[in-house]
Amino acid sequence: MTYRVLLSRPLPAGGDEPLVAAGYEIVRAESGGFTHEQLVDLAGRVDGIVSVLSDRVDQAVLNSGRGRLRVVANVAVGYDNVDVASATQNQITVCNTPGVLDEATADLAFLLLLSAARRASEAETDLRSGRWNGWRLTDYLGQELHGRTLGLVGYGRIAQAVARRAEGFGLATTHFTRSDTGVIGWTSSLDELLSKADFVSLHVPLTRSTHHMIDRRRLALMKPTAILINTARGPIVDEEALAEALESGAIFGAGLDVYEKEPVVHPRLLSSPRTSLLPHIGSATEATRRLMAQMACRSIVDVLSGLPASNRVLS
Ligand code: GLV
Repeated sequence: MTYRVLLSRPLPAGGDEPLVAAGYEIVRAESGGFTHEQLVDLAGRVDGIVSVLSDRVDQAVLNSGRGRLRVVANVAVGYDNVDVASATQNQITVCNTPGVLDEATADLAFLLLLSAARRASEAETDLRSGRWNGWRLTDYLGQELHGRTLGLVGYGRIAQAVARRAEGFGLATTHFTRSDTGVIGWTSSLDELLSKADFVSLHVPLTRSTHHMIDRRRLALMKPTAILINTARGPIVDEEALAEALESGAIFGAGLDVYEKEPVVHPRLLSSPRTSLLPHIGSATEATRRLMAQMACRSIVDVLSGLPASNRVLS
């Protein structure tokens, strides 16, 4: 029997190699990608779905897949867009793509940290719009990285890759996780990390307990010279509260790659000179995106071949 696998969006070149090598029939969208409605409609007529983080793989899709659909592989490390509990109820395996994107994402977190610290977006915007009219000793004064402390919220692979980069820039690191990592710099108190760190970078998944983890109260704990970096998921931060903190000078700046309501960006974050903003490109290098797509497609082949899925996620 030839298995049918649906790709919700086009994959980077070479990303579908495992499916091609397995001789599977691949269902591709004619342009752009499949809508949610189309996913619901097609889920019961395919054995596997390769999804991306902007697809809503919810109960409607998964219930409709019942009986035939056996695996959903999300081309992302985060899988908050997939209703894993519904998948489990329908005996559908869910996989993600951890590990392969750590270095690229850590690079981007650092890019945002440097950019926000040195007010690079603000300065470049002035330059491009013709507002730069001469060099002055007092313009665009930013924050130094060396000798300061970077607080990592979460201490998974991406956070650890950020910590490695921090060392090279002369930054000390501290990290918050619920259980003791046994690594120097661990704290069980997020509030303490926020009040002591000079810069804070978020590396936790989006779950019910991390939604608005950085809220108005917690932003108020941060230093006025502090910078918040978010390359994880937008809803971990209350954007309205962040916009207020930036406008009032409660914190120095923010570097964001993710947003609460992507692709919509809060207008006050867009207009703030103290934000460095990128459109969710943490893992966007040619090599990493190809590896992510191949990993997802390999997981599909593994599950359909009856092999244990190495990147299976559980609810
Ligand atoms: C990107 O945001 C990912 O989760 O891989």
